Amino acid sequence: MNVLVAENLSKVYGSKRGVQHKALNQFKLAVEKGEFLGIMGPSGSGKTTLLNILATIDRPTAGNVVINGKNVHSLSKNKLSKFRREEMGFIFQDYNLLDTLTIGENILLPLTLLGEKVKEMEKKMVPITKQLGIDTIINKRTYEVSGGQMQRAAIARAIIHDPTVIFADEPTGNLDSKSSLKVMEAFSTLNKIRQTTTVMVTHDPFAASFSERVIFIKDGKLFNEIHRGENRQTFFQDILNVLSLLGGNTDDLQTIRF
Ligand SMILES: Nc1ncnc2c1ncn2[C@@H]1O[C@H](COP(=O)(O)OP(=O)(O)OP(=O)(O)O)[C@@H](O)[C@H]1O
Ligand SMILES: [Mg+2]
Repeated sequence: MNVLVAENLSKVYGSKRGVQHKALNQFKLAVEKGEFLGIMGPSGSGKTTLLNILATIDRPTAGNVVINGKNVHSLSKNKLSKFRREEMGFIFQDYNLLDTLTIGENILLPLTLLGEKVKEMEKKMVPITKQLGIDTIINKRTYEVSGGQMQRAAIARAIIHDPTVIFADEPTGNLDSKSSLKVMEAFSTLNKIRQTTTVMVTHDPFAASFSERVIFIKDGKLFNEIHRGENRQTFFQDILNVLSLLGGNTDDLQTIRF
């Protein structure tokens, strides 16, 4: 079953000089329930544009996005904020945790906003923080923990209210290779256990190798798509091969980790 379907998405940006730029061109995408999808492509290919439109942070010029049967861009403002609170989770490169709250309070924030009882919230937090290896730091503040721990807390926050889909934008962008490994292992395992659909944009072929399918964008269009088999190492190699065919930003290949 597809929980997220995007049809004929186009995004045209205007410029001050009146020159228009087509960042997405009739883009199609279908994501299955529980799937972990990676999105890659050279700088300027339209990845952030696509993610922002799927996540309703931005609107398409044409086309639509259907999540859990709802055409999200046609929802009223109030219905959309409710939909986002209940059905979406977000993970950003710079974690976006609040410094004034503890790690645990940050993780519980989506449930607090949904008005859940404290006991219920804490019951939900225990298995997730254990799974992510951050159960011992929930009373700490953000400045007392590492980047990898902050990102695992952000993952817990993104998943705690059982959203239909999690959107992640460069989740390993600020992490060293050791933390990236821990974060991606925990993230992909947790998603498998809970069957949470995930859409992740990344420059990092190592992070991408934890997903089940990677789509590659070039000039706002689908360039290629590959599926993971049994072996993550082989998938990593396949991803590198497509990236080298794609050309474009060779910086992408300088951050490679094995
Ligand atoms: N707000 C905007 N106004 C005008 N043009 C934009 C705007 N945002 C993005 N673009 C253009 O649209 C194209 C796609 O941009 P986008 O940010 O989606 O690329 P990206 O694949 O995320 O790149 P990167 O890997 O560098 O983050 C680029 O050519 C970019 O310059
Ligand atoms: Mg981007």
